[in-house]
Amino acid sequence: MSFTPVHRKNFGNNFHWGVAIAAAQNEGGFLEDGKSMSIWDAFARRQGKIRGSHTPFVAADFYHRYKDDLLLVKALGFNSFRFSLSWARILPDGTGKTNKQAIAFYHKVIDECLKLEITPFVTIYHWDLPNVLEKEGGWTSTLFQKWFARYVKVCAENFGDKVKNWIILNEPLSFTALGYMMAQHAPGKRGLFNFFPAIHNAALAQAEGGRIVRELVPNAYIGTTFSCSEVIPNTQREEDIKAAGRLDILMNRLFIEPVLGLGYPRDDQFPFIQKLEKYTHAWRYTEKMYFKFDFIGLQNYFPVTIKYNALMPVINASQVNAKTKGAPHTDLGWEINSESFYRIIKKFWMYGGVKEIIITENGASFKDKLENGVVKDDKRIAYFQTHLRAMQKAKKEGVNLKGYFAWTLTDNFEWNLGYSARFGLVHVDFKTQLRTIKNSGHWWRAFLQD
Ligand code: GAL
Repeated sequence: MSFTPVHRKNFGNNFHWGVAIAAAQNEGGFLEDGKSMSIWDAFARRQGKIRGSHTPFVAADFYHRYKDDLLLVKALGFNSFRFSLSWARILPDGTGKTNKQAIAFYHKVIDECLKLEITPFVTIYHWDLPNVLEKEGGWTSTLFQKWFARYVKVCAENFGDKVKNWIILNEPLSFTALGYMMAQHAPGKRGLFNFFPAIHNAALAQAEGGRIVRELVPNAYIGTTFSCSEVIPNTQREEDIKAAGRLDILMNRLFIEPVLGLGYPRDDQFPFIQKLEKYTHAWRYTEKMYFKFDFIGLQNYFPVTIKYNALMPVINASQVNAKTKGAPHTDLGWEINSESFYRIIKKFWMYGGVKEIIITENGASFKDKLENGVVKDDKRIAYFQTHLRAMQKAKKEGVNLKGYFAWTLTDNFEWNLGYSARFGLVHVDFKTQLRTIKNSGHWWRAFLQD
């Protein structure tokens, strides 16, 4: 496959060019101005959960440096900014009283965006559940829908006059699978009896959240995001192809199909799916899990290569890592493959019912070195160039692509990897919080000016 050179102008004048961040990864401001503990704060206190025993308590200190950071967004030439709201800051008790200081903080962030003519995109939930709610079962609780509805209502009522672009959930598969099945992310739970109710609550919450925002915010542009990865069978043997099919259900189909009114994916040969249907009584909920989003957000970092593995419970499959495969990869070992990015965009576009697509995250982590005030991150520049080219090709072929958000503005708290993984266009010295625009940031500025 060949891609022609990429130009900003090929995406049109109304294209959203942005960077994305998240409250738990950027804000810091731990317990400040009434904020309560989130599940990530609690998880970080448990030994051995986060690399280097790092915590999100200070992170990139966005809580105090938002003005400077938004100036950086502007300086790099982006017209849009995606950030998330912290539930534990806005409703410290999870459901009870609204914290006025938190509302004031987000108004300041939004006002600053508007002053700089940067369009805010607000994510309502980016993984940082209030820990008080986790103690009541969190995403597995039968009360979850009630809690979430209240939180979404508070967000929409307080910010809906200024914010028109809303994202309900960030990557439901990631926080349910990593947090409630594999114990790698907060809250660190395991097992299908946690995973199933978490999945179902997320599938219901994304649709119901959409309905609440639609009702409360006039002229809202509403989306929700999905992680996605092309799933490549390791060989053309039937068992590998079937294994790849199972992973495709989990990684790409599980959350979008309910949104589109199709219910959970169907597969007679994947017991996981039958069990999920049975456990959740899913057939009763097809209507409730459906919502006509204005756009869907796709977040792509890598494809996966899958082979049959009888020893792996539930999925009977395992991943062949990029290094073993001999494929180019980032410093986290994630395969770099822009052609696969093109194919996954096309795959989601093929669903009837997807009106518009925004790439709400895409980026790469490398072991950047700050030397004499410069970060020469050529590999990240190449990553963006090739991925934008892939996107340009998809757009040219008729995919209704409306925006692209690079992950991420500044280096930040990368979940269970702590501060060891750097994704930013701007380098952060976490001892001093000094920001230095990386060469990739300079590259973006030039690209967006052109
Ligand atoms: C996404 C997530 C982001 C960020 C990124 C890089 O799955 O939404 O918060 O961490 O991965 O790993």
